[in-house]
Amino acid sequence: MTDRLIIFDTTMRDGEQSPGASMTKAEKIRIAKALERLKVDVIEAGFPIASPGDFEAVQAVARTIKDCTVCGLSRTGDADIDRAYEALKDAPSYRIHTFIATSPIHMVNKLKMAPDEVLEAAIRAVKRARNYTNDVEFSCEDSSRSEFEFLAKVVEAVIAAGATTINLPDTVGYAVPEQYGAFIRRLRETVPNSDKAVFSVHCHNDLGLAVGNSLAAVMNGARQVECTINGLGERAGNASLEELVMAVRTRKDYFPCETRIETTEIMNCSRLVSTITGFPVQPNKAIVGANAFAHESGIHQDGVLKHRETYEIMRAQDVGWNSNRIVLGKLSGRNALRTRLKELGIEFAQEADFIDTFKRFKDLADRKTEIYDEDLQALVSDTEISAANERVQLVAMRVASETGKTPQAELTLAIDGVEHRTASEGDGPVDAAYRAVEALMKSGVRLQLYSVNAITTGTDSQGEVTVRLERAGRIVNGQGADTDIIVASVKAYLNALNKVLYPTPREHPQTGQV
Ligand code: KIV
Ligand code: ZN
Repeated sequence: MTDRLIIFDTTMRDGEQSPGASMTKAEKIRIAKALERLKVDVIEAGFPIASPGDFEAVQAVARTIKDCTVCGLSRTGDADIDRAYEALKDAPSYRIHTFIATSPIHMVNKLKMAPDEVLEAAIRAVKRARNYTNDVEFSCEDSSRSEFEFLAKVVEAVIAAGATTINLPDTVGYAVPEQYGAFIRRLRETVPNSDKAVFSVHCHNDLGLAVGNSLAAVMNGARQVECTINGLGERAGNASLEELVMAVRTRKDYFPCETRIETTEIMNCSRLVSTITGFPVQPNKAIVGANAFAHESGIHQDGVLKHRETYEIMRAQDVGWNSNRIVLGKLSGRNALRTRLKELGIEFAQEADFIDTFKRFKDLADRKTEIYDEDLQALVSDTEISAANERVQLVAMRVASETGKTPQAELTLAIDGVEHRTASEGDGPVDAAYRAVEALMKSGVRLQLYSVNAITTGTDSQGEVTVRLERAGRIVNGQGADTDIIVASVKAYLNALNKVLYPTPREHPQTGQV
């Protein structure tokens, strides 16, 4: 008998808590649709009480997704739970996920609550959530550093109060596989009503053990794993969805469970999350890294050609490598574009946005003969940025770069619709362009990261630029894509600058910081 392993995706909640990885409503809808095609069981769409924008994004996901349970996070307070319900209530299937920390270090220093108060808050929260739905998840934050007897008491009490999933996070990535697996088993065996709930794990990757710990828990009876695309998440990230799913699938002989994941959608989700958040995937990342299936060395190639299994334990096409390489070009019309976008799960609510994307597509096809799915995703991101009507926008630019001369940039920017010209010199064309922006905006930001990635192969590829800006401790990412990488660089800088200059305040669910 194989059990079902529930895949709970938290890319849009824990993943979004990565500094700079915040997502707009439109981006969340796009990712949610991709996750629906991937057939995850639960999509944690956000923390609705964090801000009005977060609420709207969770609500939009709840109203869009039909084939997955949509989940919202809440602390134990009444207002949090009510807000989560309001955001989720239109989904065909929804879950309220409430949590409180149970470790001494968190209770004393963060919550400033006695264990009995924590227990009471947990029970009350679960009961309140149960008034709204039968699907209630309760998490004991920092469970792996909690005192076992107290933890068991909390788990028993919240199951009695109606929690249907019990999540045991390794919040700070402290656990090691054997110990964590034994911990899950012991808890299931100790708590008298443990058979009334699904046991779930949520592991962070601070010691690089998130996937290993999650799999050890699965071997000890956990039947839900919380994970993220590309392992995105707080600090070193969460357990990576693609690694967990492919481990369980590839080692069916070992793991007594299966998922309903459509693995051929993995690459699509990986690229999309990377494009939207600006967090590139390292080339040697398992499953989704560019080298994951590239058998570079001569010896390996020979082996693979003779007999694939010599060096390959999975097939690249099973995780979606190469499957979405349908090319559009200069002669492709609206229908071809609409059809391919639909196949990628992208449909615009406003026809004007499709027409805008089509114009961008034609413009790109004039400069680049073959248009790949990755190009289309970048075009859609561009449309979403322009539909968001950012307050500072690029109108035109000219950059001069010549051997032996100092690079110069002249830019026209529109600020709230009013055009301004600005110019500067710099160490290179990007530097000159960024200095020109700053000569006008005087934002006081610090550039923490600048990276360019070719979206596809070939010298006509669009360059996808990510910048990370910091001001007064706040970090944001910006993205831009264009066949001209200086233009892409300016787009990315302005995308980030808009977020820094005109922030939408939101509360962090765990630290409470705004
Ligand atoms: O890491 C953690 O403990 C969490 C909880 C809020 C589930 O993300
Ligand atoms: Zn977490």
